[in-house]
Amino acid sequence: MSADVSLLILYATETGNALDAAEQMARETQRLGYIVRIASTDTYPSADLVHEHLVIFMVSTTGSGVEPRSMSALWSLLIRADLPTDLFDGVSFAVFGLGDSAYEKFCWAAKKLVRRLSSLGAHEICPHGEGDEQHPLGIEGELDPWMRRVLSIIKEQQPSTISTLWDAASLPPPRISIQSETSKHKEDPDPLENKSDHYLARIRCNERITAQDWFQDVRHIDFQFDQDIQYAPGDVAVIQPLASPQDVESFLTIMGWGNIADETFTILPAPHGLPISPTVPRKTCLRTLFTRHLDLNAVPRRSFFQFLRHFPLDELELEKLNEFCSDEGADDLYAYCFKVRRTIREVTEEFRSLKIPREYIFDIFPPLRPRQFSIASSVKVHPKHIHLCVAIVQYRTKLKVPRRGVCTTYLSSLEPGHTLHICIQKGPLSLPEDPSTPVICVGPGTGVAPMRSLINERIHLGSTKNTLYFGCRSTEKDQHYAHEWKSHVDAGHLTYRVAFSRDGAEGTARIYVQDLITMDRERIWELIDKRNAWVYIAGSSNKMPLAVKGAIENAAQVVGGQSEEQAKEYLRILQREGRLVEECWS
Ligand SMILES: Cc1cc2nc3c(=O)[nH]c(=O)nc-3n(C[C@H](O)[C@H](O)[C@H](O)COP(=O)(O)OP(=O)(O)OC[C@H]3O[C@@H](n4cnc5c(N)ncnc54)[C@H](O)[C@@H]3O)c2cc1C
Ligand SMILES: Cc1cc2nc3c(=O)[nH]c(=O)nc-3n(C[C@H](O)[C@H](O)[C@H](O)COP(=O)(O)O)c2cc1C
Repeated sequence: MSADVSLLILYATETGNALDAAEQMARETQRLGYIVRIASTDTYPSADLVHEHLVIFMVSTTGSGVEPRSMSALWSLLIRADLPTDLFDGVSFAVFGLGDSAYEKFCWAAKKLVRRLSSLGAHEICPHGEGDEQHPLGIEGELDPWMRRVLSIIKEQQPSTISTLWDAASLPPPRISIQSETSKHKEDPDPLENKSDHYLARIRCNERITAQDWFQDVRHIDFQFDQDIQYAPGDVAVIQPLASPQDVESFLTIMGWGNIADETFTILPAPHGLPISPTVPRKTCLRTLFTRHLDLNAVPRRSFFQFLRHFPLDELELEKLNEFCSDEGADDLYAYCFKVRRTIREVTEEFRSLKIPREYIFDIFPPLRPRQFSIASSVKVHPKHIHLCVAIVQYRTKLKVPRRGVCTTYLSSLEPGHTLHICIQKGPLSLPEDPSTPVICVGPGTGVAPMRSLINERIHLGSTKNTLYFGCRSTEKDQHYAHEWKSHVDAGHLTYRVAFSRDGAEGTARIYVQDLITMDRERIWELIDKRNAWVYIAGSSNKMPLAVKGAIENAAQVVGGQSEEQAKEYLRILQREGRLVEECWS
């Protein structure tokens, strides 16, 4: 590793976790005295990589083992066949992958990156880390030990020209500085409202489509736009949630900010501060920040507690926080917070003596992240409209108050007439060019959303060879859009197969979409192998996608006479050709 005092952290993220990890790493390496640059893989000029001395990559994996969109250009460049094998001879690197072992291709993007950089001559200073959403402590479960390993290697080789700026146990400098304004100063408008890919929408209807007495509230939400919008089946709507006025008010009061909640201030960069998101207005107030930009309803990470312990005044609270942050206290912290999904607001209600300076809010509170939802309508059938099919997240833990999803709780509260800005993003699905090509759509639960878009668009374009496998628990309670499927079936435009997993008598085996596919394997094989059908799978990322692919492999073996290995290869080819596409989420 070269004796250079500068270091680059590159992150590739889809939903912001890799950025969080990159910022934690940046703070730690700044502490050691390095001049740290931090950039997203799509804003960093890739050709400059050969001139770097030390690069730390934080890379998540998205849909079916793919790198985040922001990394596509860098990856295309790296895999060029004409690159010399000593291209990165002078470059040292470390990679941390973020992923979820519930997916088949766990941390695939990070693994690919390590292999490719090494084959181009770069030197890996420490084996790559793999953060797993399934770990009891989430991504941080592996991030913390991996960072410690990397930092100790960096420290050993640290040039003598630099020295540690602040001690690991002391409070780092704040990320921003704040300039108070007179009360006459108005806040800046929300930058999201002026972004060209955000469109103003009005709620037309927000209707529950599961039975009133059913445990799960699933909504059909219809958004109307004044302007023409364009999207294709498989595209997603990105929704920025807002915290409720009641939650914000009670939080600001607890934090002792009630009296200054609406005072306007200007956010300025601080020495050693990291950049803050361009979507945060620079002239703003605490109420706006905690309503739109900082998440008080998230389950906090360990780093949240590491910061908090610098701010309480009460001895007992300080002792508790120190215990949570110690290695011995990890189990207690897990039981207190992560296991029961306690929120930041609830933690602050218990640590009453906290006095946090405003300069530290961007260090302590996580950003309020937008969420993606598969569009459930076809713009050709419903111009200027977007439909979503949303499962409202609510569940219980040992805590008395039920846990609620941040964005779906916000969506469930929206009345017809309410306006909000929505961003439309390209999704992974595409339609076969020839409309006579059959499609097989597998979309249990809210996985039916992109299938509704796709099937309605195909029918509108005159394609009738559509098959839908839908799965739910009960015929009467949660069979989303049943009347629509029936009318398509009656018109001869759809083959509809539905698995009701809980309708059978007590003790009977539960039937899922993959079981129906196995029952239908003669027809499935005929469609895929003889008539070149395209297959789409959407919905929960737990066992369903793997089980569905297993059922198709079974058809290849039993009906197609293939060996197990041939059947697996057959599916890999379908995926490579884009004829088998997944859009799954946890
Ligand atoms: C490409 C894509 C398309 C999507 N399309 C849709 C769609 O069409 N419809 C749809 O409803 N959603 C869809 N989602 C999911 C959606 O983006 C949100 O993740 C989801 O709605 C929850 O958001 P939230 O803010 O309400 O919940 P959050 O506040 O983010 O909470 C969700 C978290 O709560 C925890 N949790 C949830 N349920 C339980 C439980 N029973 N027990 C314990 N912990 C639990 C889990 O940790 C989960 O990650 C899609 C996601 C992606 C990536
Ligand atoms: C649509 C979707 C697809 C995903 N696919 C994979 C995958 O194939 N392999 C994996 O290890 N993790 C996968 N994940 C999990 C993410 O990598 C993980 O949640 C990570 O923390 C996201 O980091 P980011 O916010 O920086 O993008 C997927 C997550 C989503 C929402």
